[in-house]
Amino acid sequence: MKMTREQRYRRIEQAEPGEIAKLEAQISECPWRQGYHIQPITGLLNDPNGFAYYQGYYHLFYQWFPLGTEHGMKYWYHTRSKNLVDWENVGIGIEPGDRYDSHGAYSGSAIEKDGKLHLLYTGNTRDEAWVRHPYQCLAVLDESGSVSKLNYPVISSVPTGYTEHFRDPKVWQQGELYYCVIGAQRTDETGCTVLYRSTDLKNWEFLGEISTGLTNFGYMWECPDYMELDGKGVLVFSPQGLDAAGDHYQNIFQSGYLTGEPLNLQTREFNHGEFQELDRGFDFYAPQTMQAPDGRRILVGWMGLPDLVYPTDDSGWAHCLTIPRQLSLRDGKLIQQPVAEIVELRQQEEGTHIHATIDNESRSFAGFEGIAYELICEISHVDAETVGIEFRANGAEKTVLLYDRIQQKVVLDRTMTGAKLAEQNGTLRQCTLTTDKIKFHLFVDSSSVEIFVNDGEEVFTSRIFPSRDSVDIRFFAHGGKADFEATQWNY
Ligand code: FRU
Repeated sequence: MKMTREQRYRRIEQAEPGEIAKLEAQISECPWRQGYHIQPITGLLNDPNGFAYYQGYYHLFYQWFPLGTEHGMKYWYHTRSKNLVDWENVGIGIEPGDRYDSHGAYSGSAIEKDGKLHLLYTGNTRDEAWVRHPYQCLAVLDESGSVSKLNYPVISSVPTGYTEHFRDPKVWQQGELYYCVIGAQRTDETGCTVLYRSTDLKNWEFLGEISTGLTNFGYMWECPDYMELDGKGVLVFSPQGLDAAGDHYQNIFQSGYLTGEPLNLQTREFNHGEFQELDRGFDFYAPQTMQAPDGRRILVGWMGLPDLVYPTDDSGWAHCLTIPRQLSLRDGKLIQQPVAEIVELRQQEEGTHIHATIDNESRSFAGFEGIAYELICEISHVDAETVGIEFRANGAEKTVLLYDRIQQKVVLDRTMTGAKLAEQNGTLRQCTLTTDKIKFHLFVDSSSVEIFVNDGEEVFTSRIFPSRDSVDIRFFAHGGKADFEATQWNY
């Protein structure tokens, strides 16, 4: 049942007696609870927030509405990890409901200053006429783990030329100065990113818009993130309102990036190449990056999208985060790979291994099956027309990943995956890849799959909702043969 506006904008302490216990009971029955992904204890998770390393831990917060699976009163929920793999639920990070975040502590980011982790976020408010007034707010996490909010916004108005869709500050430090990018909508209803500068994280100066070649590219850019990688500038953002074009922009909203020369902080000029999508799958949005102490740039995304119904909604929870991915640049393209620490999830060192030629057939092998696992499959000497893997399969269900050698495309097929979702946006996702050797690296969990193709050249991230007995894995080659070498590790 859909919640009323009043119900959606309740805080935890306004829950009905027994309401949370009921959600917890529903959730405990849900067959799609994840094994190793960050997921909400109740309610809805969306964007990753405040991803940072502080006092020996990676801290990762996320947008959280505790009382249901709709987008309502957003909290920051706090998790932390020493190794990017084993995450501990800490509890509420930022609690909304004050004057400047009366209708939600929306997305933002974190940076350490003076030994404390500073959380810069958007305070979402609505007036009596339900008109939105965004504020950029600051909260501070100290050594003892307690979070205190500043009682005034650090950016209290939207500059002229932009609408109320003005949010998601992402902060970084350059020399003595702090900068942040904010996602914005111009008054002509096109999306963009603006830049601010500060000496102390409390007083922010509006510098203006980041000048890109994309002057009319969707109606809103959410969750911008700027970084420098191998001496290049990278602007990541999630544009809303792009029309599907061929294999591109098939999801309801997109998430992608521009790369180029480093952003000129004086002129705000950013000379860049084409907009490229970060992910080719069905469910990926609003990613955020951080820099690890060893210099690695690490990205986590929301494995979900706004405005869609998901099969777990009826069980009182929705969405999860992706596994962390390390970013690098190759020829102006972002390459994403699972962080090296992920191998700590492997239950055995060796894994189950096969090496076989598959000729015009679909084959299963003893030991290859499961619900939560890692699978690496390298396919070579391909003369078949299509080669690939069916996984989370039984007699009736399967999720299919294939390489079509004739069309030179990687295809993920969710048509027969199990419980249906978002079929209005299609059940296939694909991208062009020219290669004669293909490597699929899969991370499968109870209700998701993340596929790294050819060492992160392309990534397909998707929720899938098969039954618990859909555990089969089959390798296939059609219209010819190919060599398969595969290893599976249970998680
Ligand atoms: C992106 C987003 C952000 C906003 C947050 C609210 O998914 O819409 O722009 O800050 O979610 O939860």
